This record gives sequence, C-alpha cells and structure tokens, in this order.
Amino acid sequence: MILKTAEWDFLGISPEDLLDEARTARECAYSPYSGFPVGAALLADDGRIFKGCNVENGSYGLTVCAERSAVSLMIVSGGRNPGAIAIACGSGVPCPPCGSCRQVLAEFNPAMIIVLEYGEGSFSLYSLEDLLPLSFKLRNRDR
Ligand code: THU
Repeated sequence: MILKTAEWDFLGISPEDLLDEARTARECAYSPYSGFPVGAALLADDGRIFKGCNVENGSYGLTVCAERSAVSLMIVSGGRNPGAIAIACGSGVPCPPCGSCRQVLAEFNPAMIIVLEYGEGSFSLYSLEDLLPLSFKLRNRDR
C-alpha cells in the first residue's frame, strides 16, 4: 500500500517540499480544544499549492479539518485538479486523513497521492484509492 517515491511524477516539487508547506500551514492551526494542530498542502495540476489547517470551534462538531480547509481554498482560488496532498501533524505519528476528508478529497481526484509525515524528515506515500476504495461518486452532476 505504500507507494514508491518513483511514483511521484510532479515536476518541480518533491514530496519533502509539499510536506514543508504542510508544516508551515500547521503553524496557523486553530486548535485550542484538542491541542492537536494539523497542516495540509494540496498540489494542483497547474503547480499551485493550497494550504489548509484545522479550525476548531467551541461547538466541537463544527471543527473543520486541515484537508478540507485546503480543498476550500483550492476551489475558491479556481483550482480543480489536485494531484497530491501532504499532511503534517508533528507528533512523530502519521496523521492519515479522517473518513470525511477522504471522501471530500476523492471528489476531486480519487487517485490522489497522499504524503504522510512519519516524524522529522521521514514520510510515506499512499494512494487515496487504497485509503478509500470504492468511494461514493454522484453521477451526472455539474461542477
Ligand atoms: N483533524 C484534521 O485536521 N484532519 C484529519 O484528517 C483528522 C483530524 C483535526 C480535527 C481536530 O481539530 C483535531 O485534528 C483533533 O481531532
């Protein structure tokens, strides 16, 4: 299930670069309730990077995850085709996207590559297809 680095074929940016962007985004996280800041960086096919962080709320269920905040920024910026996303949670333990985020990411590219941080300087690559097989897709709709 872990992809080889050779399967990363985005020109001009490495998985490490994208993870660095996610680490930067994590510094902006608003996570006073969990104390668990998360950063994400979404790489679009035009080379743009859209960052996101978790945004918590005193009404806990309204919390927005880092991955979904990156997707919102991509959409409002006119992006549509993400090829990869890096996620940083800084705990030395990888932070795979939650089920809701997997579904939201799959809307835009079910085969997106996911870069997970395994502590400083170490990461692994996954395919979203492996993390969310047979994702739901509503047919015949306009984007
Ligand atoms: N969180 C994310 O940002 N992404 C995920 O995929 C899972 C969890 C955040 C939500 C909450 O602010 C904190 O991590 C603890 O659950």
